[in-house]
Amino acid sequence: MHVKSAEFVKSATRPEHYPPAEVPEIAFAGRSNVGKSSLINVLVNRKGLVRTSSTPGRTQLINFFQVNNDLMLVDLPGYGFARVPAEVRKQWGPMVETYLSTRSCLGCVVLILDIRRVPSDEDVLMLQWLRAYAIPAVVVVTKCDKLSKNERARQAATISRTLGLSREEMVFFSALSREGKDLLWGRIEHFLAA
Ligand code: GTP
Ligand code: MG
Repeated sequence: MHVKSAEFVKSATRPEHYPPAEVPEIAFAGRSNVGKSSLINVLVNRKGLVRTSSTPGRTQLINFFQVNNDLMLVDLPGYGFARVPAEVRKQWGPMVETYLSTRSCLGCVVLILDIRRVPSDEDVLMLQWLRAYAIPAVVVVTKCDKLSKNERARQAATISRTLGLSREEMVFFSALSREGKDLLWGRIEHFLAA
């Protein structure tokens, strides 16, 4: 993918506030602090387009970013962070589920996992839920730069077993080294072409 332009369009919590469903969308999901916003910045070659933070729960709205006038990247708020205020947590389920289950132009969801962690129940549920709704999913394992080659192989095996996916089905990624960027774009483009 040759990214010529990338810009923030708007934030929304409810369908009335989504931008018009005119171009295909790719949504990014995963637990809080996993690296969703950082990954989007790498995909579009823009360091500060999406705000990232070492404080989990930074992204609390659905944020739409337009790429090249013909594609929208959608940063979803992360799940599974206990210290997010109860009010925000209560809204998360309906907000994200409504988006995923009703968005007609949704092309695929990129589900992001941390290479250092065993996938949580919420990660597994999210993947099952996407399958149940027949939404194409790309599983990305990020922060690969944090582990040695051996640790990485061990974690890859654990993650692949927990999710019932082969290693080839997952994209190994790092926002630091940019490893996996081209492969991920390739997978995304595959679904856009479908
Ligand atoms: P929320 O919006 O809070 O749900 O978080 P997020 O999933 O958008 O995570 P974000 O991109 O803000 O990154 C969280 C932290 O992880 C930041 O401190 C990032 O710098 C760091 N981080 C993200 N990706 C990587 C990576 O590939 N490698 C390393 N070493 N750090 C990363
Ligand atoms: Mg974020």
